[in-house]
Amino acid sequence: MALHIIDHPLVLHKLSLMRDKETSTMKFRELLQEISMLMGYEITRDMPLTYEPIETPLMPMNAPKIAGKKVVVVPILRAGLGMIDGLTRLIPSARIGHIGLYRDEETCLPVFYYYKMPANKDRMVILTDPMLATGGSACDAISRLKKDGFKHIKMMCLVASPQGVKAVSEQHPDVDIYLAALDEGLNDKNYILPGLGDAGDRIFGTK
Ligand code: PRP
Ligand code: URA
Repeated sequence: MALHIIDHPLVLHKLSLMRDKETSTMKFRELLQEISMLMGYEITRDMPLTYEPIETPLMPMNAPKIAGKKVVVVPILRAGLGMIDGLTRLIPSARIGHIGLYRDEETCLPVFYYYKMPANKDRMVILTDPMLATGGSACDAISRLKKDGFKHIKMMCLVASPQGVKAVSEQHPDVDIYLAALDEGLNDKNYILPGLGDAGDRIFGTK
């Protein structure tokens, strides 16, 4: 497993605005989209290229174009939805799957409720969820994708705890994790510290 922390100054600045409890729902959503686009630039860095002949107004050339397998972006509902617009602006041909999971408030264990993916299992999957806390939701989502036959999976989060990263790397060592920040830990309710609170509630204004 490789852990990529995308600590670009623009990402860190926007993340600090998101962490601020005074930031409005509208601004929070906008910032998450912007960061997702910046992170998408890194997460797609190893996409293979092919060379095709074209003619510029001045001469012929072999021009690089994205080759190989198409991408499927898969948000873990609900909060992962906030990251897909930024990614699909960069990869307009991406397909979109959905995995529905919520964390039970008492046990903090993930409860599965929805799964819909495109048929082609060869596609590279970018699984999105802003928060990697205990790692339970991410691990279950990845297991579900693997059971369905998907093999090339990358996990894109905004903020993670060390416990979440450890859980994913132990259960799914083949999955690379991309983060904007690795935070200090979890509180007694398994919220990330310092974190940014409940990502779903802040994106959708449900609290
Ligand atoms: C949040 C978050 C992750 C999960 C992380 O979702 O978006 O999916 O918790 O926690 P874990 O790593 O301990 O599993 P939540 O359950 O609040 O659902 P929501 O997005 O529908 O609000
Ligand atoms: N889910 C969230 O939305 N935030 C956390 O800090 C942990 C889980």
